[in-house]
Amino acid sequence: MSKIAVLTSGGDSPGMNTAVSAIARCAALYDMPLIGVDRGYNGLLGKNPEKDFVHLTLENALDMADQAGTRLRTARCVEFKEKSVQENAAKILRDMDVAGLIVIGGDGSFQGARALCEQGIPTIGIPGTIDNDLAYTEMTLGFDTAVNVCVDAVRSIRATSRSHDRPHVVEVMGRHCGDIALMTAASTGAEIVIAPEADQWNVDEVARRLQSQINRGNYRSTIVVAEGAWTMMEDFDLHGYLTAYGVRVHEDDKITADYFAKVLNHKCVMPDGNRPEPRATVIGYTQRGARPTARDASFAFEAGVMAVNLLHHGMSNRVIGMRLGKIFHEDITTALAAKRPFNRQLYNTINAL
Ligand code: ADP
Ligand code: F6P
Repeated sequence: MSKIAVLTSGGDSPGMNTAVSAIARCAALYDMPLIGVDRGYNGLLGKNPEKDFVHLTLENALDMADQAGTRLRTARCVEFKEKSVQENAAKILRDMDVAGLIVIGGDGSFQGARALCEQGIPTIGIPGTIDNDLAYTEMTLGFDTAVNVCVDAVRSIRATSRSHDRPHVVEVMGRHCGDIALMTAASTGAEIVIAPEADQWNVDEVARRLQSQINRGNYRSTIVVAEGAWTMMEDFDLHGYLTAYGVRVHEDDKITADYFAKVLNHKCVMPDGNRPEPRATVIGYTQRGARPTARDASFAFEAGVMAVNLLHHGMSNRVIGMRLGKIFHEDITTALAAKRPFNRQLYNTINAL
């Protein structure tokens, strides 16, 4: 078999480097030259071929396995949604004698992979996103790491909250998926979790739940909010409400974790009549830039090896996943059509206690 290529696309995720390292080791075993494509589909636009393609040898890929981020770099490349751009990318790959491409990324990246496959380039997808929003697989590279980063952060936050008897709002990533928030809340004993899958929610209902914790003697609740949940909040006059309390808010400002903590401060009251003084933390990129946990890294290793084996055996248009602890592969279109059931029971349980 001739040359193969690999790229990482979308948001970087812990485990991407581990997968690339495994791909390099496996390709070397079969004597398949391996090309690393720089910055996702951007590297296939043909703008800077000198820089966009690197030969990945065992020597430069071996030490990647435990590194955070993605050494191949990544990007969001809007042009790649255009058919003419995809046709050109397929031509570039063919001209380089690339006989197969491995794409590590999320659902958007997989759509790019499917498009290239339609252009005659055999492609294999490895799920790489912290969001865990690919329904066909029980895990995606980086989700476990992101949750562990959030759990560590929330544990520290709860220690301080406990010392000061103050509630805390913690915002975690996940785009439209609330899995990071849900797992973080369940793992840390957080009292309230808000996820986009829960449909509409409102400030007063959360304030009532926080007040009920206070009434029961818990002055240090943690409220974990998935970033995607803000858009699911029922209309609330943030500007009007907070300016009435002397808080500076611009009229166009949208709700944030910090504003939300300020709103809750004025909607809840402590037994002594004082305000609970909630604080807020947005965990942000530390979730994405962490070194992969053993769970993510071992999945990445297995997935990298499987991807090369699939190409080696002439397979294409497949994506790799994990089900009941076992690695598997399936057709990309079937995988992308899967609908993820949200664990509403766990969500309701956390919020009910
Ligand atoms: P993720 O892969 O994590 O879901 P994005 O949704 O940002 O991240 O997608 C990553 C990249 O995949 C995009 O920047 C674009 O280059 C490519 N992509 C996304 N959607 C499509 C599509 N419908 N067709 C072709 N390429 C796509
Ligand atoms: O898809 C990964 C992710 O980190 C999401 O959780 C988040 O919404 C998004 O990427 C942020 O993207 P960026 O800051 O890179 O534009």
